[in-house]
Parts: sequence; C-alpha cells; structure tokens
Amino acid sequence: MRLRSRATHIGLAVTLTLSGLALSATGASAQSGYQDPHASIPARVSDLLKRMTLEEKVGQMTQPAVVTMQGDECQWSGGALNETCLKHTFVDLKAGSVLSGGGETPPQNTPKDWADMVNAVQKYALDHSRLHIPIVYGVDAVHGHNNVLGATKFPHQVGIGATWDSQLSEAMGESTSRAVKATGPQWDFAPVEDISRDTRWGRYYETYSEDPYLAGSLGAANVQGLQKTGQVAATVKHFIGYSAPFAGHDRTESHLDPRYIQDTFLPSYKAAVDAGALTLMANSGSVNGIPAHASHYLLTDVLRRQWGFKGVVVSDWNDVQSLQTAYHLSDTYAGAAAIAVNAGVDMAMLPPGSVDDYVSGLIADVKSGKVSKSRIDEAVSRILTLKFKLGLFEHPYVDASQANGIALGADKDLAVRAATESQTLLKNDGNALPLSTGLGKVVVTGPNADSIPNQDGGWTIGWQGIPDGVNDPGVTIYQGIKNLIGDHAKLVADSGDAVGQTKSADAAIVVVGEKPGAEGTSDNETPELAADQQKLVDDLQATGKPVIVVVVAGRPLALGSAADAKQLLMSWLPGSEGGTAVANVLFGKANPSGRLPVSWPKVAGDEPMFYQQLPGTNSGPSSSYDPLFAFGTGLSYTSYAVNGVTASGGSTVKVSVKVANTGSRDGDMVVPVFAQQPVSRIIAPPNRLVAYTRVSLRAGQSTTVSLSFPISRLAVTQGDINGSSTRSVIPGLYKIVAGDKSADLTVH
Ligand code: BGC
Ligand code: BGC
Repeated sequence: MRLRSRATHIGLAVTLTLSGLALSATGASAQSGYQDPHASIPARVSDLLKRMTLEEKVGQMTQPAVVTMQGDECQWSGGALNETCLKHTFVDLKAGSVLSGGGETPPQNTPKDWADMVNAVQKYALDHSRLHIPIVYGVDAVHGHNNVLGATKFPHQVGIGATWDSQLSEAMGESTSRAVKATGPQWDFAPVEDISRDTRWGRYYETYSEDPYLAGSLGAANVQGLQKTGQVAATVKHFIGYSAPFAGHDRTESHLDPRYIQDTFLPSYKAAVDAGALTLMANSGSVNGIPAHASHYLLTDVLRRQWGFKGVVVSDWNDVQSLQTAYHLSDTYAGAAAIAVNAGVDMAMLPPGSVDDYVSGLIADVKSGKVSKSRIDEAVSRILTLKFKLGLFEHPYVDASQANGIALGADKDLAVRAATESQTLLKNDGNALPLSTGLGKVVVTGPNADSIPNQDGGWTIGWQGIPDGVNDPGVTIYQGIKNLIGDHAKLVADSGDAVGQTKSADAAIVVVGEKPGAEGTSDNETPELAADQQKLVDDLQATGKPVIVVVVAGRPLALGSAADAKQLLMSWLPGSEGGTAVANVLFGKANPSGRLPVSWPKVAGDEPMFYQQLPGTNSGPSSSYDPLFAFGTGLSYTSYAVNGVTASGGSTVKVSVKVANTGSRDGDMVVPVFAQQPVSRIIAPPNRLVAYTRVSLRAGQSTTVSLSFPISRLAVTQGDINGSSTRSVIPGLYKIVAGDKSADLTVH
C-alpha cells in the first residue's frame, strides 16, 4: 500500500461522550439478533455470521498494524492517524482487528493518547462497518504495559521465573490488564510459554524457565490474572518450539523429536491453554521441516482435537506471507494463506505492505475452493466469539479521561515486590552481604548502575528497548542505593576512576550485564560478560575491598574471570522499580529469595543446558549436567532446612514437607519438589519438578507445607526411538524429593 500525503490527518482527540458509546456501537434502538446483549454468545455469533459477506468475513481474519494507518505514507513512520489509510483499512479491506507491534505508539505516547488513538480507530471502524462490528486491538504488554511512557514496567518473564510465585504472576497479569484496558486495547500478546533452552537466543529473557512445569504454572496464573475482568484476552505464544532455534539464532529451524515435543515442549503451552487463554499465537519458526504456521498437526490435531482449545489462533508477525516468501511452501501469497488457514490460523497479523494481497488472496482461495466456506465460518465464529466475550459490542470504547489516572505509575509496590522476589543471590562468600546502611563511602559503578533502558530491556517504549533520548521514569540501581544511604553512594562512571575511588571506600557495587535488544538483534553467539566488564570486576577486586557484583541481564552470562566474584547477585531485567528492589536486597531491607529458573553455564557455547539433561555413558563433566550454578540455586541471608517429606496418594499425590528457618532473619523459602525414578525403561531425567511453593518463615520458625500434583505430571511418552506412542505414567517406584529429604511413592 503506498498512499500519498494528500491524505488528511484526523485528530486523535475524538470527543466521545460515554452515554453515546453503546448506541454508536450497535446502531440505533433495535436490539435484536446479534445486537441483543441478552442473547447467548453462540446465538449472536450465528445470527451475525449469516448476515456477513465473504469480504466481511475475510476482513475479520485480518489484523493490520496501526502504523499502516498513521503518518503520511502509512508505512512505518507512526504519527497521527491518516483518514485515507483508515478508509483503505476499514472500508476497502474491512479489517476486524488492529495491533500495535513493539513501539507502535501514538505520537505523544501517554496513556490518554493511547486511549484517544484506539477510540478513534474503533470509531472509524464501527462507523464504516455495515454491521457495526467492533475491532479487537492487540498489543505486546509483556512486562507491564511496556510500550507506554510512564506505565510501570515489571521485570521481564525470566525474572518472574526466579520468583517461583504464581500468585505474584497472577497479580501482575491483573495489573497489566488494567493498564492495557484503560488505554484502549483489549488483547495482550502475553504470556510467552516457550521453554528456556539456549542462552544464545535473543528472546531468552521472555521465557519463564527451562522447566516445563514452572513455566506452565507461572504462565497459567498470568493468564488468569490478565483475563480476570473478562475485558482483556491473553495470548499463549509462540506455539511451539520457538525457543529452540538452530544454534540460538532467532526464527531458524528447530528440530524436536516427538518424545521431546510431547514431554518437554507441549506441557507449558497446555497449562496456559487449560487456564482459559482466549487466544494463541503460532511460532514464526519451523519445527522438523514444517513451519508451525503450516502445521495442521499442531494447530488443529493437538490444539483443537486433543486439548479442546476454542479460542482464536493468530499468526505471528507476517507469518502467513512467510509461507511464501521465507519458506517457499507456495509461490503465491494466496497459496500461503490457504496453507495457513487450512492448518488452523484464524487471523493474520500483518505488517505494512502485506495486508492487501492477503485479503484478496484469501477471498480468491475461497472462490476457487482452496479454502472451504466452512473453515472461514469457523475462524470468523471464533473471532466474533472473542469480541462478544470481551463485551466489545456493548462497550467498544474506553473513557480516555481516566487513562492517565489508571495507567501512569500504577502498582509500583507490586513492581518492587516482583523485582525483589526475583533477586537471586548466587554467591556471598564471607557474608559481606547484606551491606550496612551505616557504611562510609560506597562506590557504585558499571554500565548498568544508572540506566533505566538497561534494566527495562527490550520491548520497552521501543521494540528494541527505550530509544536514545527518550526518558521513561523509573528508579535506577544507583538511585535505589542513594535512597537508602544518601550521599555515601558515589556514582563513578569511569572504570579507572571507580577502581581508584574504591581504594578509599568501604565497598564497591559494580553493576554489569547487557544492553537491551529484542528478537534477532538480541541473539548472542557468545553470551558472556564483556571483556571490559570482567576486567572492571577484576580490578575492583584487586583493591581488596568488598566488591558486590550485580548482573542486569536477560540471561545467565558466562562470567569469565568475574566468576571468582565473592558476592554475586543476579537481578535479571528488573524493570522500572528494579533499583529499589536491588538496593533493598543489597542493604538487607529485603532478604533475597529468588532461585534460578534456568541453568547457568560455565562457559559460553555450552548450550543448550538444562537440568533435565538425560544421563549418558560418559560420566565426564563435559558430558554431564555441569553448570556454574544449577537450576534452583539461590541463597538467602538466613538458612533453611527441610526436615522431612511424605508422599502418598493415587491420581493426586499429596506431599507434605517440614521446613524450618534455622537462621536469624525472616525470609521467604522457595520449596521445589522433584520426582526421581530410580529405574525406568524410558530414560528418566535425574530430577523433574512436580510441585513447588514459596513460604514466609520468621527467624526460627518451622512449619509443614502441603502440596499436591496430579500423577499425570509424571507421564512420559512410551515406546521406542520413534516416540510415536502416547504418554502415560510408568508404574514402579518414584522418589519424591525436597531439599535433602525424600519419600518413596509407588505407582501401580
Ligand atoms: C513477535 C511476537 C509479537 C509480535 C507483535 C513478533 O515479531 O514474535 O512475540 O507478539 O511481533 O509485536
Ligand atoms: C515490530 C515488532 C515486530 C517486529 C518483527 C517490528 O517492526 O514493531 O512488533 O515484532 O517488527 O520483526
């Protein structure tokens, strides 16, 4: 689409009075058929579907990016909405959905501007829809409502993995949905249910964990939180195998044997689907030589027939056209659309330049019989069902005057709590931590010590992270420290200077790590701490003063010479309130409680690495699971003990664990429970996480925690190398393990 600048821009501030909103959505007074809010959703959907033309139906399956409606060219520039392009999108193409991809914002990017923009797009769509069908508007709010200036940014998902706190994940979902809804969108492309596998991959930080159960349970809780009000839809993404691309390069092929798919990859997505996620996004990549978007097996046989998913499957960015242009499954866009839709894609997410030919191609596919009318009706029914469920026919607009009040700086306490719970203390030799707030001079240095962009990471304001020159509020780590110890904190940017000043200081806090990035540009073939940062740590340590190394990064980085740090805190990408959390942990106002949700490799290149690695015949360290820090590692300022475990039951296994805080500080103890299988005909991983909890224990307190898990959590794919059998639980002896205690469980 190339449209010239003779287009007139329409103002963003479309004035809408709330009382008039419901009427303008459905037209005048006759509330019959699909317009009757009291009719059942299936009845409304079938009534509406009967009235729709093929063009209107295909329009519903079309999701252009908002940039195709902005600026003079309606390509990429952003800017004010452009009436000519709105007309093309909604009058000619009859689009049923719109998205803001990463960084696709209104010009001022305040919550109110968002609400005005989304309302204006909605109003245009409704006014020009013959049947007054509202659009559903999607956005990537993956760590809070991250595109919006002044909205609170939560830690990225890998940090939430480190909290082992599903209640927190749910609360964050609720908070995010409030912010998203207040600014107009009703659809969030979150959570990511891909399993962490390879630290080289640029989206590692968007995953919760390498463990299928931990990732699945945190994502399921997040879905429940996001959808609690019924006004926002969550998205399980990216189905499946996206996180295991070739050599960690984004969107390259992945090769996953059937057993690995069934036992390791599918469970996390299934947990989020079972939690009621209303939508799911397909993986942009290919699995075993088939693009996920072309896989009828994945998108229909597994998702629909085995799991009973009833929601909408949306493509990833341009991935219908990719079947033609990248994968060459067809030599035409129409052919690609037929393959995707027949595999099970209900809606195509479309960047500029790829919208028109998708629409005309899919219409042609139906006319030529390549795509059946019933398949179109099925997809459109799902999309309309989503819109009815979200209440969009009755309430298509939001009250823009409320948006700033709701979304600006909301739930900062929750963000501090999330970042605090995610802090993962990996080393504290000699217990130099926590630091005393009564210290004299504390040098604060390193590239991530005073940087909101670096602690917020990618998918913040811009797709790749906060663009240069843009200020988004937050508390940096230095500011957090300064808030506790005032001018005793000395921020020193220059490395040489920092080393010099440390000689006369009581301690140095050096904040190292990565810069923001997203997707392919964030891939890293050698994910290790930069040489100059290793040297800075070494030089600081050579002063003999206590040196606290804080890592702000989206993945475990091989530490090189910095691995001998005596104090090491993994802060992940802690978000806008991260500085408060990190400072509270360093100075003992909070007791660290995070535990690694992933394995930390000793050297870059030792990938993929995960604790469920199967045993083999070479017992040498390089052939075994040999991390620098194992899955589940995390220290505290107090000490904990597990004093006993019991396990019993049939279809539900009940586990009780006696735990104690044996130290002198209050704290939260994360209690993972693993299953081991001493003998198994299918090789069993040494440990499998089956349950976990987080419990607050006062100094000296002991208690018994009760957990349970369905026996099906132990199921594995039976049979030989071809892995074509179904999953079931192998009878026999299991050990249920917590800490250094275990209980026997016999499965009959
Ligand atoms: C990403 C998705 C995201 C979409 C929209 C794609 O490039 O893979 O995760 O939801 O863009 O921004
Ligand atoms: C968009 C993102 C999208 C990416 C895909 C960017 O231009 O803003 O949302 O994920 O392209 O490559």
